[in-house]
Amino acid sequence: MNFRYRPTVQEERPLAADDRRRFACARRACLRLVCFALAVFVSFSSALAEPRTDNLWWAPPNFTTGGAQIDAILNFIFWLTLVVFIAVQGVFIVYLVRYRRRPGHRAYYCHGNNLLEIVWTSIPVLIFLGLAIYSNRLWAELHSDPPADALQVNVSAFQFGWDFRYPGADGKLGTVEVEKISNENKFGVVETDEAGKDDFTSTELVIPFGKPINILLNSRDVIHSFYVPFFRLYQDAVPGRTISWVWFKVERPGNFELACSQLCGTGHYNMKAPIRVVSQEEYDKWYAGKVQAAATAKAQEESASTEVAAK
Ligand code: CUA
Repeated sequence: MNFRYRPTVQEERPLAADDRRRFACARRACLRLVCFALAVFVSFSSALAEPRTDNLWWAPPNFTTGGAQIDAILNFIFWLTLVVFIAVQGVFIVYLVRYRRRPGHRAYYCHGNNLLEIVWTSIPVLIFLGLAIYSNRLWAELHSDPPADALQVNVSAFQFGWDFRYPGADGKLGTVEVEKISNENKFGVVETDEAGKDDFTSTELVIPFGKPINILLNSRDVIHSFYVPFFRLYQDAVPGRTISWVWFKVERPGNFELACSQLCGTGHYNMKAPIRVVSQEEYDKWYAGKVQAAATAKAQEESASTEVAAK
C-alpha cells in the first residue's frame, strides 16, 4: 500500500483576499469571546469569595485535625495531576510543531510499541491503586468511632433551619429515635430515658476547641446537609436516620456559619446557623448558664402544672 501524501488541488490554492479577511474577522471574534469569558470568570469568582478575606483561590483555611489530612491528599493529587498535565501537554505541543505538515516531509506510519504500551498503562494503574489505598485508609480513619471523651451534640435539620441539643448536667445525651420526631418532639427524644430529662436546646452550635465533637445528625423533613468548609465536613442529614459517625476536633477558636448544602426548598438560601468555637473556660461558662436556664424553666413548668392540678 502506498501512503504517500498527495495534496489536493484545493489545498494548493493561495488564500484569496476575502478568505484572509474572513480569517482575521474570526480571529477577532475568538479573542473577544476569550476576553468575555475571562471577565465573567474573574468577576464571578470574586463574588463567590466575598465572605472570605484570605486564600481566595484555594480552599478556605482549615481548622480541624482531620481536615489537615484531607488537605494533604487534595494537595498531593493536585500537584500530581499538574505535573502529568504539563508533561502530556508539553509532549503534545512538541509533536504538533515538530511533525506538522511541511513540504518534502512524508508521514511515517507505525503500529505501536508493546513495551511502551505496557509501561504507560502500568504506571497510571499503580498510581491509581496507591491513591485508592491511601484515600480509603484515610476515610476509614476519619470515620472511625468517636473517642470516648467526645462531646455529643444532637443536630436536627428542618425546613429551614437547625436546632441543637446538648447533654444536661449529667453529661449524657438522652436517647433519640427518629420515629418519634414530630412538631412537638423536634429531636425524637425518648421520654422514658432519664438521661434526656435535663438536656437543653440551642439555636447556635457552641463548641470548645481541642475537644472531639460527635454530632448526632437527623432531619425532620427532607434531605439537608451539614456543611462546614472550614472544618472540611460535609454530611447529609437524611430523614428517618440518625447519623452518628461524624466527629471532628477543631484546633483553634473562630466564628463560622453552618449552611445547608442540599437544595431543600424555597428557604434553602437562608438555612444557616452560627457556629462558635471557644476556649474550654468560655464554653464551660456558656454551658453552666444554659444548664441553669433549663433547670429554672423546668421548675417553673412543674410549679405551673401543680398549680393547674391544685385548681
Ligand atoms: Cu436545608 Cu438546604
